[in-house]
Amino acid sequence: MSRVAIVTGGTRGIGAAISVGLKEAGYNVAANYAGNDEKANAFKDETGIPVYKWDVSDYQSCVDGIAKVEADLGPVEVLVNNAGITRDTMFHKMTPENWTDVINTNLTGLFNMTHPVWPGMRDRGFGRVINISSINGQKGQMGQVNYSSAKAGDLGFTKSLAQEGAAKGITVNAICPGYIGTEMVRAVPEKVLNERILPLIPVGRLGEPEEIARCVVFLASDDAGFITGSTISANGGQYFI
Ligand code: CAA
Repeated sequence: MSRVAIVTGGTRGIGAAISVGLKEAGYNVAANYAGNDEKANAFKDETGIPVYKWDVSDYQSCVDGIAKVEADLGPVEVLVNNAGITRDTMFHKMTPENWTDVINTNLTGLFNMTHPVWPGMRDRGFGRVINISSINGQKGQMGQVNYSSAKAGDLGFTKSLAQEGAAKGITVNAICPGYIGTEMVRAVPEKVLNERILPLIPVGRLGEPEEIARCVVFLASDDAGFITGSTISANGGQYFI
């Protein structure tokens, strides 16, 4: 029987590619999204992947949303924490709201989503939690004190929870994408992208969302059972750690 996977932020950008990649690999996928009904419905029509709307920054919404997915599809065995937002601005202009919005979604969202599925994974003796962090959580990034802090926190979350899950058959890993050709990256001012970022990527191009999706499919597989607490950096050589 197909394993059930939830992908947060799974109807757009990297998340959409992950949802499709997992479906093609035989998973029964639920794609969560927070806001854009039009894009989510178009994604559902195009891919046949069911979509579920809730906000990962709200704990009770996650509990309720996961319960609905489990009632429809069965117990969640693979969780991909991909949902993320940016509120890029220099620190001296950053508002408290810019800070909390990003921390609540990009870091607390991992707690909110993983905590409700964790007891079931422990009971069944199997689980895969895959967290989409970022190159900017590893190296820092001007204009992203909020985002880089959250993404670095995602790596601490991954390494700590991996130690708790290991004896229960649950792996917890992170992927740090570099600059991938999505709406989020294309929102960076064109001059900055072309003059300050692209020249730093040795392979000479932005990444493709599918290049991240393939990492997720591997980490979700039975073949990756000995890999836990790890970080896969997929950034075109921009940063080594
Ligand atoms: N690297 C080096 N220099 C940069 C830079 C970068 N990534 N971003 C901006 N700068 C430079 C600018 O070129 C500019 O320098 P000059 O004055 O010499 O031209 C200076 O910093 C100030 O930049 P702005 O004039 O753009 O100032 P601003 O206040 O209008 O905006 C900013 C500042 C918000 C940081 C804006 O430049 C920006 O959005 N930069 C990109 C930040 C970024 O990389 N975000 C990643 C988004 S994608 C993502 O988050 C996905 C992921 O995980 C990788």
